Amino acid sequence: MEKKWWQKSVVYQVYPRSFQDSDGDGIGDIPGITRRLPYLKELGVDVIWLSPVYESPNDDNGYDISNYRGIMKEFGTMEDFDRMLDRAHELGLKIVMDLVVNHTSDEHAWFAESRKSKDNPYRDYYIWRDGKDGKEPNNWGSCFGGSAWQYDETAGQYYLHLFSKKQPDLNWDNPKVRDEVFDMMDWWLKKGIDGFRMDVISLISKDQSFPDGKPESTGYTDFNVAANGARVHEYLQEMNRRVLSKYDLVTVGECSGVTLEEAKKYGNLEGTELSMCFQFEHMGVDSDPVTGKWTTKKLELPKLKEVLTRWEKGLEGIAWNSLFWDNHDQPRIVSRWGCDAPEYRERSAKMLAICLHMMKGTPYIYQGEEIGMTNYPWKDVSEFQDIDSVNNYKEIVKKGIMTPEDAFRALKAKSRDNARTPMQWDAGKNAGFSDGTPWMAVNPNYTAVNAEEALARKDSVFYTYQKLIALRKQMDVIVYGDYNLLLPEDENLWVYTRTLGEEKLLVVCNFSGKTVSFDVPEAFAAGEALIENYDTAGEGLSCIPPYGAYVLKA
Ligand code: GLC
Repeated sequence: MEKKWWQKSVVYQVYPRSFQDSDGDGIGDIPGITRRLPYLKELGVDVIWLSPVYESPNDDNGYDISNYRGIMKEFGTMEDFDRMLDRAHELGLKIVMDLVVNHTSDEHAWFAESRKSKDNPYRDYYIWRDGKDGKEPNNWGSCFGGSAWQYDETAGQYYLHLFSKKQPDLNWDNPKVRDEVFDMMDWWLKKGIDGFRMDVISLISKDQSFPDGKPESTGYTDFNVAANGARVHEYLQEMNRRVLSKYDLVTVGECSGVTLEEAKKYGNLEGTELSMCFQFEHMGVDSDPVTGKWTTKKLELPKLKEVLTRWEKGLEGIAWNSLFWDNHDQPRIVSRWGCDAPEYRERSAKMLAICLHMMKGTPYIYQGEEIGMTNYPWKDVSEFQDIDSVNNYKEIVKKGIMTPEDAFRALKAKSRDNARTPMQWDAGKNAGFSDGTPWMAVNPNYTAVNAEEALARKDSVFYTYQKLIALRKQMDVIVYGDYNLLLPEDENLWVYTRTLGEEKLLVVCNFSGKTVSFDVPEAFAAGEALIENYDTAGEGLSCIPPYGAYVLKA
């Protein structure tokens, strides 16, 4: 296998709106990101993935783009962007842009033209269909609730939108659309950016017969009707030939609905498509067959181990993997699968970090994860802003699928807004995020949970992440070693080994709030601890305290 720099890298995701405000309007911006680059350098990450910073009416916080070659006013100017890119490069940090090309905003100039008339040259940039028996062309649901089709009076037809009505889907079967997208990508790459994270890229090729999905096919049950379409690999190979292969990049596809077999193609090691993809099967282990993610169901550890082990083993030698717990669409991992009570917040955050970063694949850290930021203490449903949370709440309650109380509990646990509260920099006003009124409330625990405090204390979560990143750079076994699961049925412990030739690591993580005993395998009995999250003076390697974790080198 040819070794690539991004296999050794760690990526840090910035959600610009909530990272750092520099002009007091309460909204994070690009100069704010530039200011915080040294912090990311200190953490040790190699690559920064920026959630969208393009012009957008913000129906879905920038994932609805109205101009791919302009910067959102609230975030600054193109000059600010260029300065940030230069500064990042001076520090040895790479910048990856979010590429949102399954859909545009309905305020994009292409869509304004497209809806005008059937013979408009931009008509086929989007997906227009006549209704069926006075209803939508099929029963597909939008991920954000309601039908995926919207009737447009001017156009006299329905257009497809897998997300909000303000996010019409582009028609990738039209070669002109592909030309436009590839030109635009090239334009950014010529500026010097280092890669793309491709938003819902698995959805770009639609079955042109638009068959019905399952009878109750709605966003929160099954939007996978549109995933991994017949031509998706052809389009990505074309993108690779025409654009990506001309540069030395990292690319990661957000592949909603991806199966292991499909991921082998998206992230193949021959490099004909993308560097790797994000799969979401592990994010679904605590979801519900009917309501999807909207549930408070608890994690069953054997299930999570089974899923991630299958991905680790399945891609071995065939395709590259990506590793993540958190992003801007997920609740905070320490609240979800760790324990966010003050007693265990830090230890469980470190355990989760160790568990993920010792696996094979490129790890992604979402802003604030490195200091153990938690879910927000929501008091009322009116506090949510995210379109996904707000729309699905209404729909679930309206259809009587859940009571308002249960739906609120589900939102508290799973809403994307948990990830979108401002970054907690210090114990000062608004956690150091903004001098003005933040667009979204700061989590009140910022006085205890903040970056300044974490940097000042050597045993903070921050330094566990810093050490994990450094270890990855020093030890090939972490990057290239084979992964093997031990104790698959154990409900508390996740134990695995990594092996590269003579080098062997044992990773032991206690996902429970109990002390658990464990027989350290012979080969590791005299091993040296590379990293751990508790003081072994009181507890031993074979008596693991709540949320304890360690890595032994044989
Ligand atoms: C992706 C993004 C998400 C967005 C959606 C539509 O899943 O991560 O934030 O809402 O695509 O663009």
